[in-house]
Amino acid sequence: MNISQLLQSAVQLNHLSDTSRLDCELLLCYLLDVDRTYLKTWPDRELSETIEEQFQQLLQRRIIGEPVAYLIGTQGFWTLDLKVSADTLIPRPETELLVEAALELELPQQAKVLDLGTGTGAIALALATEQSRWQVSAVDLMPGAVQLAKENCQRCQLENVEIFQSHWFADIAPQSFDLIVSNPPYIETDDAHLTQGDVRFEPASALVSGPQGLDDLRLLVAQSVNYLVDCGWLIVEHGYQQGPAVRDLFEQAGFALVETRVDLNNLERITLGRYSRPPAH
Ligand SMILES: C[S@@+](CC[C@H](N)C(=O)[O-])C[C@H]1O[C@@H](n2cnc3c(N)ncnc32)[C@H](O)[C@@H]1O
Repeated sequence: MNISQLLQSAVQLNHLSDTSRLDCELLLCYLLDVDRTYLKTWPDRELSETIEEQFQQLLQRRIIGEPVAYLIGTQGFWTLDLKVSADTLIPRPETELLVEAALELELPQQAKVLDLGTGTGAIALALATEQSRWQVSAVDLMPGAVQLAKENCQRCQLENVEIFQSHWFADIAPQSFDLIVSNPPYIETDDAHLTQGDVRFEPASALVSGPQGLDDLRLLVAQSVNYLVDCGWLIVEHGYQQGPAVRDLFEQAGFALVETRVDLNNLERITLGRYSRPPAH
């Protein structure tokens, strides 16, 4: 069987994935250790039986819903190729909106930045890549995620990032950041989507946050003000229906210039605001 014939297996994924052809191409690229251009250049290349068998095994796992990123062990995010694991969320393209918003802010050249719930390190490492003079701290609760983010940091050869375990702010020494970013868990405990599709394979620790999905966001927004410089910024990702509630949280905590931005699907996805310290009496 050649490359072109094998990729016709993509029809078996049509019920499950909007990107069935791409999914199969990524699986085959992984097995052959080539990029997608190679598949398009050499559609007639004959494949060994071993490759065919390995491909079928991965395809069967994909058919029951296992995400491609977990099958091949990596996921592209921003300009980076990140290792992924079942310890945390697979980075999503929507989260690049948060990275873009952070890079648009007017911040000091050597800004201090904190990424809360870093997972693979996606946001922290993307920011540190773009701004080599920023000092980026990144924390996660899950030891497996902390380890993964450290490995990704090494893969990216970044020296301006420190990664450690912390329950949100609990193990962060008192200090002030110019920017705090977070893509925390924000799905409602009873959300039906948790039992469907790829998220079934991702850990609840990365997804779920109380009955309205707001428990972690509430805590993060309220406590951020203790860790921001005067006029420091907070940017959070949230669910597409949580924009009004998150703007309220920002305003209650004393943030100004509060703004929600939409993703490529025109859904409210991130909220940002600037914190001005009240004058001391
Ligand atoms: C939605 S995932 C985001 C991962 C990554 N920032 C991204 O955008 O791909 C949320 C992350 O928050 C972490 N997390 C959950 N509860 C936490 C807590 N109490 N303190 C720190 N991190 C936490 C999870 O382990 C997970 O890695």
